[in-house]
Amino acid sequence: MVNLTIDGITVSVPEGTTILDAARSADISVPTLCHHPKLTPFGGCRLCIVNIKGVPRPVTSCTTPAEDGMEVTTRSSTLERLRRTLVELLLSDHPNDCMVCEQAGNCTLQELAYFYGIRENRFAGERRVYTKTDNNPFLERDMEKCILCGKCVRVCDEIQGVGAVDFTYRGFSAKICPPFEKDLECEFCGQCVTVCPTGALTGKMWRQKGRQQGIRKVHTVCPYCGCGCNLTLHVRDNEVIRVSSREDTINEGWLCPKGSFGYGFIANSDRLTKPLIREKGKLRETTWEKALEYIASNSLKIKENYGPDAIGGLASARCSNEENYVFQKFMRAVIGTNNVDHCARL
Ligand code: SF4
Ligand code: SF4
Ligand code: SF4
Ligand code: FES
Repeated sequence: MVNLTIDGITVSVPEGTTILDAARSADISVPTLCHHPKLTPFGGCRLCIVNIKGVPRPVTSCTTPAEDGMEVTTRSSTLERLRRTLVELLLSDHPNDCMVCEQAGNCTLQELAYFYGIRENRFAGERRVYTKTDNNPFLERDMEKCILCGKCVRVCDEIQGVGAVDFTYRGFSAKICPPFEKDLECEFCGQCVTVCPTGALTGKMWRQKGRQQGIRKVHTVCPYCGCGCNLTLHVRDNEVIRVSSREDTINEGWLCPKGSFGYGFIANSDRLTKPLIREKGKLRETTWEKALEYIASNSLKIKENYGPDAIGGLASARCSNEENYVFQKFMRAVIGTNNVDHCARL
């Protein structure tokens, strides 16, 4: 363990812990934009700067390991002035159209501008103008709002293992894009959208559906597979307008494309809400009681007439392990066949 003081508080942390994590373990807040606890430290935004006694200039706390005997200061008028300037510089090349931005109210950059009271900007100059629209089906990529924090690049590489985007060009021309600046072609898991601290990455399906006001958040479990990832449905006027997830859950806030963007079926008018029985080639609606009775009596007849192997059962990856276990048990022990399969192989 190493022992250090941060803002006068003694903190003990395991060797290798960064100053930022040490500060957070003592409930000392340090602003960040490019940091994510599950991604490799990047040190790009410089907002997490702190002073260390004996070190002549501020250092980034997200990339500096805590050392025994360090005396760290996270707040001072100079540090706050530097941080304010950094936010001003970011905003000097930013559309600032929070009024119509999907992320307003959920944007770290906007929040920092609010805390530093940045209404005007001292820095005028060249602006990045990106007119190209990305025609991918799910992600809205507004790269004029990108602050080059690199979180999307790291999450795509380190968590999703895809590497669909990266930094391209250098200096003022630097930007994040897919290879050869083509439209994004990836797994569309949405992790990059989750970690983006601005409105640079959002969901096409969310556009103008609602932001923070009038939203009811409902925690539930993804209906698509037995992994059981936790979802948070953003509901407005009884319509699911967006899906997110929480870091304190079994899936640690990560989702796959189905969890992130596959919620359109909920309000789809084609959705089956009642069981259907096919009679003389035509499907007709019925009740669950009648449908189950129909299956039971016909299964028995088929078994008597043609033997148990004339029957097959298809289970579902959407069911839990326990449900699938019971289903195969039923097919083997009650029906008497090993003809059991599941939708994931079809
Ligand atoms: S990304 Fe943030 S700061 Fe930029 S327009 Fe959107 S809400 Fe405002
Ligand atoms: S959606 Fe997923 S796979 Fe696609 S760029 Fe983002 S993180 Fe990578
Ligand atoms: S798109 Fe978002 S996450 Fe990616 S670098 Fe830009 S601001 Fe950061
Ligand atoms: S959070 Fe440390 S440099 Fe960005």
